[in-house]
Amino acid sequence: MITTFVAETDLTEEQDAQLRQLLAIGFPERASHFERQSWWLARPQWRLWLSDDDGRPLAHLGIERRRIGVGDHDVYVAGVGHVCTHPDQRGRGLGRELMHHLRAVMPAPVGFLTCGRHVVGFYEAAGWREVPGPVEMTNVYTGERMVSTSHPPMVLGDGFPAGSPIDLRGLPW
Ligand SMILES: CC(C)(COP(=O)(O)OP(=O)(O)OC[C@H]1O[C@@H](n2cnc3c(N)ncnc32)[C@H](O)[C@@H]1OP(=O)(O)O)[C@@H](O)C(=O)NCCC(=O)NCCS
Repeated sequence: MITTFVAETDLTEEQDAQLRQLLAIGFPERASHFERQSWWLARPQWRLWLSDDDGRPLAHLGIERRRIGVGDHDVYVAGVGHVCTHPDQRGRGLGRELMHHLRAVMPAPVGFLTCGRHVVGFYEAAGWREVPGPVEMTNVYTGERMVSTSHPPMVLGDGFPAGSPIDLRGLPW
């Protein structure tokens, strides 16, 4: 398995096309979007992925470093999104391996994401923990501020302050 960590600004056209293909297969409900553009919601600043010996990406995540608000505190987080394992490769530990590599490259002490309730167990198995919301963010469709209570906020690492609400000050990941 080959591990690649690359800044968004250094992504080659070929890498971008490969990631679009993986994300379109991995998120079929957003396939038509990912066929054109390799991100949805906040654009990552870095990409981390695992590929097979032929260079085909099998598991991927994106990272953006951002200063967010947590109650009265401000904190830099590594916002994580676009977490995806190729459907043919799920359940084989690639997601776990990806999370292991993430710890080594995180551009902030704390990782942050919001996710569907159905994948909370995956993140918990990788060391993430749920924290209290609600989470304020920019609505991707309207550009307006919105409050989300549907997607649990999760953090990785130490140093996430106690407080409410969590204000992402931008699009979610
Ligand atoms: C979620 C996803 C990334 C998991 O990747 P994966 O490579 O299949 O995960 P792994 O095989 O490394 O699993 C690691 C551990 O998490 C557990 N796990 C995996 N998916 C899980 C889920 N949906 N719920 C609970 N636990 C899960 C596995 O059982 C395993 O635990 P174990 O080692 O104790 O057996 C993958 O299913 C996927 O791409 N889903 C579609 C896209 C998606 O929903 N992404 C998340 C967006 S927030």
